[in-house]
Amino acid sequence: MTKLKQKKAFIFDMDGVLVDSAHYHYLSWKVITDRLGIAFDLEANENLKGISRTESLDYILSLAPEVHLSPEEKQALLTEKNDIYLDSISQMDKDSLLPGMQDALEHLKEHNYKLAIGSSSKNARYIVKNVKIDRWIKVVSDGTDIQRSKPDPQVFEIAADRLDVAKTDCVVVEDSASGVTGANTAGMLSIGIGTEEQLGHAHVVVPDTQAFADYIKQHIR
Ligand code: BG6
Ligand code: MG
Repeated sequence: MTKLKQKKAFIFDMDGVLVDSAHYHYLSWKVITDRLGIAFDLEANENLKGISRTESLDYILSLAPEVHLSPEEKQALLTEKNDIYLDSISQMDKDSLLPGMQDALEHLKEHNYKLAIGSSSKNARYIVKNVKIDRWIKVVSDGTDIQRSKPDPQVFEIAADRLDVAKTDCVVVEDSASGVTGANTAGMLSIGIGTEEQLGHAHVVVPDTQAFADYIKQHIR
């Protein structure tokens, strides 16, 4: 992919790309769905990747039309889910970056790429601080900045704007189908970390974060 070398910036999704928090989102929802008696597994969880907390609950409730909750009960579940999630990621530190990602960030910095986060999460800044990636990544566009979650491209467009880079000069690194769609809609080059089956619409698909690091070191020298 020679085009990669001509790009100016990389926008990283956070959950499941830089840290393993995607799994903790799943486990936190699982506590709630088990209690409500709603069947929810890793396959269903794929649909929650990249979408907002509120949209995630709406999706989960769509799996169980027999469950009726008032707006207050929904709000209480959203708060509870986030409390469980925050508790589960509270131990994250600089060693929590996924395999290869520190290497990848350092490599991109050495080659003068601008770096940003593009995440639907309202907790992204908390993680950036705890895992100390603010050493390499100064620009964050997250769930507190946007009106529309992925697959809408808004979170990536805001990141490009803040980096002062044209959208077409950006590469997006994503583990969610919705994020890949958003990146493609924005006219950015998308790299999917996951399976061809889930992320086949990305311009490049690599199986895991170590393979991503190897890929960029091979293509950007
Ligand atoms: C995204 C995750 O990064 O953030 C989604 O992929 C999650 O699964 C979304 O729902 C919102 O996260 P938060 O931390 O604001 O509840
Ligand atoms: Mg993700």
